[in-house]
Amino acid sequence: MKILGIESSADETAAAVVENGDTLLSSIIASSLDLQKAFGGIVPEIAARSHLEVITPVIEQALSQAKCTWSDIDAIAVTQGPGLGGSLLIGVLTARTLAIEKKKPLIPINHVEAHIYANFITKTSLTNYHLPHKPPTLPLLALIISGGHSQLVLLNSHGDYTVLGRTLDDAVGEAFDKVAKILGLPYPGGPSIAAAAVNGDPLAYRLPKARMGNPYDFSFSGLKTAVLRAAQAAVGKDFTLPSKELPALLNESQKAYIAASFQRIALETLVDSLEKAAFQYSPTSVIVGGGVAANQELRRMIKDRLDMPIEYTDIKLCTDNAAMIAALAFYSYSVVADPYSLEIE
Ligand code: KG4
Ligand code: ZN
Repeated sequence: MKILGIESSADETAAAVVENGDTLLSSIIASSLDLQKAFGGIVPEIAARSHLEVITPVIEQALSQAKCTWSDIDAIAVTQGPGLGGSLLIGVLTARTLAIEKKKPLIPINHVEAHIYANFITKTSLTNYHLPHKPPTLPLLALIISGGHSQLVLLNSHGDYTVLGRTLDDAVGEAFDKVAKILGLPYPGGPSIAAAAVNGDPLAYRLPKARMGNPYDFSFSGLKTAVLRAAQAAVGKDFTLPSKELPALLNESQKAYIAASFQRIALETLVDSLEKAAFQYSPTSVIVGGGVAANQELRRMIKDRLDMPIEYTDIKLCTDNAAMIAALAFYSYSVVADPYSLEIE
């Protein structure tokens, strides 16, 4: 069964064809990241307009890369939520229109759940994809960490999952992005903090690790404020110094030391919960998805603390993509939506 997936929840417009939930036939991703960079974050209006401009060519390219025509496609899957309203609407309305016109079943997909299913894709004839050697087994523990979400999820069987914990404020990727802004490092913050941290001592600054009532919940806003205070103190100023004046006053070594200290606490927060949940629930596999999974220090920490081998999928499938949407749709094929009325969530 070949499913066309469509994703437009944030700043990536993506379409992909996946066969039987495990074989990647195509994956096309157009990003408005370059447009957003100038603003240091996603501007919803820019994202929505950019989806509208590129979604049709992106879908056409996905079909052509998969060497498919519409008659080869068995169903259309689309991200229904969560995400930015205006962005989701473009994907959902496009998918509804195509489902009606091409007479295909329409499958609504939860974006966060789909991040897990990127790891079920194990085969492709496309070049430059490093895929897991075998699909994860259930029950599965998943840490989904990106600019929009931070969740720890237990998937007992397909369609039956428990959200063990989630962030109570910022997503972890968002915290990387905001701290990068405080330090004057480029957007997106994840890669630039990781690069700066290589030259810093992660124990240099004592920053707080949030403890929640639920040990699987996360919080990063206190950490972000602590970074701001540490940076103000490092340049000999108090809390009244506006954060936008900090980058010019901090030297490279202060930036590196603060970046390394922040990164250590942010990642430990995630790994503490992951380790605790792995012990408590004894999953048969663990996966990490979302853009923050690209962080090499995180991978090293997890390897140190979890006595279980973890296979990471290609980074192109960790960050937002449509292949994961099409992969999950294979397992939730029974949940078909009315193309005349499907709403975003
Ligand atoms: O999954 P993704 O592409 O989009 C969302 O759904 O948000 O994740 C993007 C996020 C950004 O916040 C970015 O700063 C973060 O992933 N990120 C990283 C790294 N690479 C990307 N965070 C930490 N370390 C990295 N190496
Ligand atoms: Zn995502």
